Amino acid sequence: MKKILPLFIVLALVLSFGVGNLQAEQIELAIASGAVGAELATVERAAEMFMEEHPDIRVVVRDTPDSADERLSLFLQLFEARSSEIDVFQIDVIWPGILEDHLIDLYEYGAEEYVAGHFERIVENNTTADGRLVAMPWFSDAGLLYYRQDLLDEYGLEVPTTWSELEEYAGIIMDGERENNPDFEGFVWQGNAYEGLTCNVLEWFASNQGGTIISPEGVITVNNERNHEILAKAAGWVGDITPSGVTAMMEEDARAIWHDGNAAFMRNWPYAFSTTMDTDAFAPEDFGVAPLPAGEDGEPAGTLGGWNLGVSRYSDHPEEAAKLAIFMASEEVQKMRAIDASLNPTIEALYEDEEILEASPLFGDLYDVFINAVPRPSTITGADYSAVSNIVYSEVHAVLTGEQDALSALEYMELELQDLTGFELGQP
Ligand code: GLC
Repeated sequence: MKKILPLFIVLALVLSFGVGNLQAEQIELAIASGAVGAELATVERAAEMFMEEHPDIRVVVRDTPDSADERLSLFLQLFEARSSEIDVFQIDVIWPGILEDHLIDLYEYGAEEYVAGHFERIVENNTTADGRLVAMPWFSDAGLLYYRQDLLDEYGLEVPTTWSELEEYAGIIMDGERENNPDFEGFVWQGNAYEGLTCNVLEWFASNQGGTIISPEGVITVNNERNHEILAKAAGWVGDITPSGVTAMMEEDARAIWHDGNAAFMRNWPYAFSTTMDTDAFAPEDFGVAPLPAGEDGEPAGTLGGWNLGVSRYSDHPEEAAKLAIFMASEEVQKMRAIDASLNPTIEALYEDEEILEASPLFGDLYDVFINAVPRPSTITGADYSAVSNIVYSEVHAVLTGEQDALSALEYMELELQDLTGFELGQP
């Protein structure tokens, strides 16, 4: 016994020294990610996968506000303070021009071979004028129409293809359902004063042949008869087929009403597909997803959304952080997220993957909507894009709350956009 005890102590010392050493060598990376629908859980799962492959790295997942505007302010605060707190940032498709100075060039960390299979236009979107890749494409988005198939059947209606049909059908279903359910709404969408409203507005304008706010060539196209007509129409929905509370609603608020079985139609992004599959309020076969409606002689338009992964210039571990961003954007992780959270891959080949199409058939059915999604004018306006969007959603919000009429909103919008950008006014 006397001889064994010291041996034990020696062993324990050796072991604890070893473990201590290992801990000291472990690098910690923080990734700031969205937490809408099922997305956060998939990031945590992907982080586990990464840590298994890299036992020397610990990944901490930080969630961020749901509102894109609030997320951007938070990120800008961190960047301006040159904080190393977050290594990898989830970057909106409209932000590369705003954040490029704070992000490293991923090409310097071997991203070249990994971006090959990704949609060209997203890679271009994430590339600066001088050729730096500031974010890995992660998932893509397009605005879609969710509808209740069971209710369309019950009222003898088809999936609406024009805004006027949507308005009419939403009214018919709502009036019928309200007899038993006073909480039932016709059409829910995002009308809060934030980026999501700009996305809805772009869809109304573009689908009614009113242009895309500012053209890719830099012409302001807001003040025209087409936009006036559709904006006045949308304002008329508020308090009618759409609850007045829409002026405070973001994606998750609209989804909550839809999810409870209290809406005939919803405008939302693909992530809501996977969560809708899990609702108890109605069966999976009782809902469908379609392109958004269009104006009488227009084409449907879904706003191009989506998120990317950039590495902070102020990270203490840029090399490991780049590895994490590249892994998160890999085929393996994108496939898992497409299946578990219906987040659109940015890797083209995954749209033909059998397992993905089985779990999220909308990726095949609505492929055309995704590849033809309409971009917001963020490339042409660069660092000014947030201010552009702020003008658009603030003016429209005032129309939705009844503070101003549609025509005045378009006139102010045009003037403010011209003031900000110096661009010409023109027709779409
Ligand atoms: C979605 C889109 C994003 C957009 C945001 C607006 O997250 O992917 O691009 O800015 O919605 O709410």
